[in-house]
Amino acid sequence: MALGVKALPFTFVAHALAIAGAIMVLVWCIDFRGGFAWEASNKNLIFNVSLSLSLYWLHPVLMLIGLIIIGGEAIISYKALTLTKQVKKLIHLVLHAIALALGIIGIYTAFKYHNESSIANLYSFHSWLGILIISLYGIQWIYGFVIFFYPGGSTELRSESLPWHVFFGLFVYVLAVANAAIGFLEKLTFLESNGLAKYGSEALLVNFTAVVTVFYGAFVILSVLSLPPVDPEDYSYSEI
Ligand code: HEM
Ligand code: HEM
Repeated sequence: MALGVKALPFTFVAHALAIAGAIMVLVWCIDFRGGFAWEASNKNLIFNVSLSLSLYWLHPVLMLIGLIIIGGEAIISYKALTLTKQVKKLIHLVLHAIALALGIIGIYTAFKYHNESSIANLYSFHSWLGILIISLYGIQWIYGFVIFFYPGGSTELRSESLPWHVFFGLFVYVLAVANAAIGFLEKLTFLESNGLAKYGSEALLVNFTAVVTVFYGAFVILSVLSLPPVDPEDYSYSEI
């Protein structure tokens, strides 16, 4: 399915939303929640605003900026850049590798924080979906690398695989965006049940970060469904 319109304007909106989302999650975790640390001395105070440093806050930042934003930029790179297909393929696979690595570290921080604070692991829908997403993302990356990059499949296998690659890529990406929104909601609900004001500035910031995340995902999908810029090395015949 193609929308028959140029993707470039959608990719500009996506970049703007990516910058907004990244700033919002950083303001939340650094300004409202005191920042990050790999080691935090008092894990029981981890939700206390007065605690200056916390391991937990790396999780939302790495998941949003890593998996969602850099992963989204990897997907739209085919539509946002006027470079040759080969160069775009390299950018696509490197950005996805960075997204995957940051996603794995982000999930590790959630486990590390849970273990060090004696909180149970994998008790929520968010966490189960998270494991599914990171596993599918890893499989998608390996399959993409082997078939489209090195050693590369036959021409027939590549063209048969491509629609499936696009479908599974979008599927796992949509799941990730939905899971990030669930994560924001879950964390905010924990904070509100510990006394955070429901209409306060922090609650509004977190809710709107989730809104921006969902709109960013929508513009990534719109770009995929729209037309790419012309490949500068594509000299094939066109009717113009
Ligand atoms: C696609 C992005 C995300 C993935 C794949 C993901 C994955 C995970 C996983 C696997 C856990 C389980 C850790 C454990 O059991 O020890 C977890 C925990 C958690 N995550 Fe995320 N996460 C994502 C985004 C977010 C975001 C943006 C937030 C916002 C604050 C968030 C909030 C939480 C919370 C509160 C927990 C602890 C409660 C629970 O285990 O459900 N997550 N996440
Ligand atoms: C988890 C990692 C990955 C995800 C989520 C993913 C997702 C996607 C998506 C959604 C598209 C459609 C883009 C569009 O048409 O605008 C796409 C295209 C493509 N991807 Fe991936 N991809 C991943 C990894 C890889 C890797 C490692 C390679 C290896 C080179 C690769 C090669 C390609 C190719 C060749 C296209 C076709 C571009 C075209 O000619 O239309 N992908 N990918």
